[in-house]
Amino acid sequence: MNRNSLRILAILLAVLTLSASLFGCSRGKAPGGEADTNTVEATVEPVGSTSEAAETIDYLVLVNKQNALPDNWESIVQLEEATNRWGETYQVEKTALAAFFDLQKDLLDNDGIVIELDSTYRSVKRQKEIWSEFEAEKGIDYAREYVAVPGYSEHHTGLAIDICIEKDGVRIDDNDDMIAEREIFAQIHKKLASHGFILRYLEGMDAITGYAYEPWHFRYVGVKAAEEIMNAGITLEEYLGKVPATEPESASAA
Ligand code: DAL
Ligand code: ZN
Repeated sequence: MNRNSLRILAILLAVLTLSASLFGCSRGKAPGGEADTNTVEATVEPVGSTSEAAETIDYLVLVNKQNALPDNWESIVQLEEATNRWGETYQVEKTALAAFFDLQKDLLDNDGIVIELDSTYRSVKRQKEIWSEFEAEKGIDYAREYVAVPGYSEHHTGLAIDICIEKDGVRIDDNDDMIAEREIFAQIHKKLASHGFILRYLEGMDAITGYAYEPWHFRYVGVKAAEEIMNAGITLEEYLGKVPATEPESASAA
C-alpha cells in the first residue's frame, strides 16, 4: 500500500467513526436533549407502573386515626384529573373517579340532584394546611372531630371524595349547611353502594371511626364490599374487624 492509499484509508475510517457516533446520539436522545437512559426509562416505566398499580391497590385499605397511609401508596396509586362545573380541578384514583361519574349521572338523571367534587386526593402538605385553617377558624376541638392529622387522612389514598351539592343554582359546601340538607343527602346515600361507595363517617359512630358525622365524605371500596357495608349499616372498621380498643385521640397536626 503506498502513502496515498494509506491516507485514503485513514480518511475513510475517520468518516465511518464519525457517522456511527452521530447515528447513535440522534437515536438515543429525547427531543429535549435528555440522555439515552431517559429513552429507555420512558419505554419501560409505564408498563411496569401500570400493572403494578392495578395489582396492588387495596380498595379496602384502612386509613384512620390508628392507621397511617401505607408507605408505598403514593408510588402505586393511579390518580386522574377531573374538573367540576365551576372549573376546579381535582385528582381521584382512576377506578373511583369513573364510579363517581356514574353516581353523579345517576343522581342527576333519576333524582334531579346535582353533586360535585369538592375535595378529593390530598397530599400531606395540603392536609396540614386544612388542619391549620380549621384550627384557626373553628378551634382545635372542631378540627379533631372533622380533620385527620396529616399522614392519617383517607384523602391521601385518592379513594375518598368529599362532595358538595348545588340546590336551586346555589352551591352548598359548608359543613353545617350540608348537614342541614338531610333529605337530599338521604337520597344520595341510598345510591352510594350500587356505585361502589360507602358513607365513611356514620352518624353516632364517632367512637369507632374517630370522626363526627360527615354526610359528604364518600369512600370507594368496590360494589361488593360497599353493598355489604351499607346494607349492614356498619363502619369500615367493623367490616374489617379492626374496631379500635379505645376511642382514638387526635394529637395535633404539627
Ligand atoms: N375529614 C376527614 C376525616 C379527613 O380530614 O380526612
Ligand atoms: Zn373527606
